[in-house]
Amino acid sequence: MAAARAEDARSADAAGTAGAAQPARPPGAAPDPIVETRGLRKSFGSNEILKGIDFAVRPGEVVSVIGASGSGKSTFLRCVNLLEWPSAGEILYHGQDVLARGYDVTGFRARLGMVFQQFNLFNNLNVLQNCVIGQVRAAGRKPDEARQRAIGYLAKVGMDRYVEAKPRQLSGGQKQRVAIARALSMEPEALLFDEPTSALDPEMVGEVLAVMGELAAGGLTMVIVTHEMAFARDVSDRVAFMDDGVIAEQGEAAKLFSNPAEERTKEFLARFRAG
Ligand SMILES: Nc1ncnc2c1ncn2[C@@H]1O[C@H](COP(=O)(O)OP(=O)(O)OP(=O)(O)O)[C@@H](O)[C@H]1O
Ligand SMILES: [Mg+2]
Repeated sequence: MAAARAEDARSADAAGTAGAAQPARPPGAAPDPIVETRGLRKSFGSNEILKGIDFAVRPGEVVSVIGASGSGKSTFLRCVNLLEWPSAGEILYHGQDVLARGYDVTGFRARLGMVFQQFNLFNNLNVLQNCVIGQVRAAGRKPDEARQRAIGYLAKVGMDRYVEAKPRQLSGGQKQRVAIARALSMEPEALLFDEPTSALDPEMVGEVLAVMGELAAGGLTMVIVTHEMAFARDVSDRVAFMDDGVIAEQGEAAKLFSNPAEERTKEFLARFRAG
């Protein structure tokens, strides 16, 4: 499935520009994953939420994660960038075990950006400051350089006219576009989105999806938890369907939506269409 994206021109592009050196591989082979999970498990107390997740995202891939509420999508995404510590299994970053004792977890987290449903902007800082602070504090950039970068990414999401605005002066769609610019300003290798449009009024969903579509077309590596099925189908290379703590099925987006193999995928998609 992921290997099927080997011919994807965007994968090739992004692989060529990725920060980490890519080992030589045969022509036509899929690039090595940026991040991979193997047998990933997470329990809260005696409640096992993730029950062994094997997943990989390769440079330039856009992968959507769909599934019913409570199936573990957010927990999975939070484990991938170690906002939650997994109970068992492996997380490999360019083949290195990030759960190993002594691994540079902070450095790893900085390589993966995250965009949250609730934006998580600092309300006391203006738009520009929101996009600068992480670059200076976590990435050690000089303030001038950080500001230039931030303005570039704010322009990319159409928010450069709002640098002085405070979050409370913005609509939800605008806030989420700032949150995306903030994440991009860190120049991560991949961006993880957890239901980036679920908290928005319906009329603002489109502007955020449009920005995400442009990022996907530009070759950004993205993992997107979403209930926006049309977006998942049209923009993703691959879709993973989660059910009760496992990836029940994953594959090429068009095929998974039009011709799912698993009964529970069919039921989920039918419920979604009905509902
Ligand atoms: N910190 C936590 N402590 C205890 N239980 C948790 C915690 N975080 C998540 N859970 C439980 O894990 C299960 C999966 O939650 P999760 O948020 O990952 O689901 P989800 O697929 O993202 O759902 P939704 O579509 O509603 O966002 C839920 O039963 C939830 O109550
Ligand atoms: Mg969730």
